[in-house]
Amino acid sequence: MKKKIALARGDGIGPEVVAEGIKIMKTLQKYSDYQFEFVETPLGGQVLIDTGTNLPQKSFDQMKKCDAILFGAIGLPNLPLGAAESAISKLRQGLDLYVNLRPIKLYESLRDKCPLKEEYIQNGIDMTIIRENTEGLYAKIGTEVSDNKVINKMIYTRNSVERIIKYAFEYAKKKGNSEIISVDKANLLECSQFWREIYLEIGKKYQDIKQTNFYIDAFCQWLIRRPYSVQTVVTENMFGDIISDEAAYLIGSLGMAASGNINPGKVSMYEPIHGSAPDIAGKDIANPIGTILSVKLMIEESFGEKFYGDLIENAVELSLEQGRTIDILPKNDLNQGKLKTLTTNGMG
Ligand code: NAI
Ligand code: MG
Repeated sequence: MKKKIALARGDGIGPEVVAEGIKIMKTLQKYSDYQFEFVETPLGGQVLIDTGTNLPQKSFDQMKKCDAILFGAIGLPNLPLGAAESAISKLRQGLDLYVNLRPIKLYESLRDKCPLKEEYIQNGIDMTIIRENTEGLYAKIGTEVSDNKVINKMIYTRNSVERIIKYAFEYAKKKGNSEIISVDKANLLECSQFWREIYLEIGKKYQDIKQTNFYIDAFCQWLIRRPYSVQTVVTENMFGDIISDEAAYLIGSLGMAASGNINPGKVSMYEPIHGSAPDIAGKDIANPIGTILSVKLMIEESFGEKFYGDLIENAVELSLEQGRTIDILPKNDLNQGKLKTLTTNGMG
């Protein structure tokens, strides 16, 4: 099976973690009939400095011809705010990657890193946040900027809300979930009222799944209070962005969480949820698991291969027992020698 993978390594720790993702694909290639061809598709802050654009047309055109994209992270501290990062929105909108799929799972051996009390985590944490990825405030439609006033408009269209909510219900059904949670701010925002109306309407076809609504503020505390009870969450773009970083903290580190920017059946992009982490870039201490699990998502969601996805996840669990990066080091582990051992070495 030949697959062409675009590599959008990016800035800071982006190239470091993508290198580990590539090792996983090369290992998979060794033990299966996958054959990966890698295509470099530069983008991000350094590319902006070098070429004047954060997403060269050539990179974008090549990505469109690939089977999937592996993305690291972008952003450089010395650039104006958002100058590099807008490349992500360009890709999400340009490729119509309307689903942002974010699984959040607490691995057995990382329970000591979960900030919750033992009695709360004994049921485990295994949820998926499904974030609308093309609209909301991040779509930047009708933005106005002047000296004394700035307006960011939030947009939702029926088509976009319907497709993400249908995707979420189908996902929850496929996973055998008993409940789905929609997160909005319908007590204040018309966009959220529109969202909730469509959610309730589509929900009528999924009567076997309990349908719950939360306001975003209340959900932020619910996520910490009862994360083990949360299964599938569907929410709009910015709320999903925020709650997934919060959820990542519960599973040990931002470096653990993977994501897929998906348009089912079309070229999709997989990336860890973290950013370019300039504070740790170049030190060879970045946690690559979010990227490795993004490769797992790619194999499952774009190539429909659950077996190999599970294999990658098992390898991650095994490697966590052998060594960890500094962000997920056990509280009382003084063995600094283990710091750098978490690579594909343990995943043979
Ligand atoms: P960040 O996610 O880069 O870092 C937040 C904190 O988490 C830092 O202390 C960092 O060291 C730590 N961290 C992140 N990933 C880690 C990993 N794999 N292993 C160990 N520790 C890790 O967020 P921050 O600092 O707010 O943003 C830095 C830059 O990244 C900014 O330019 C921002 O705009 C950009 N960014 C880019 C994203 C993307 O490319 N998709 C997403 C989020 C932020
Ligand atoms: Mg984010």
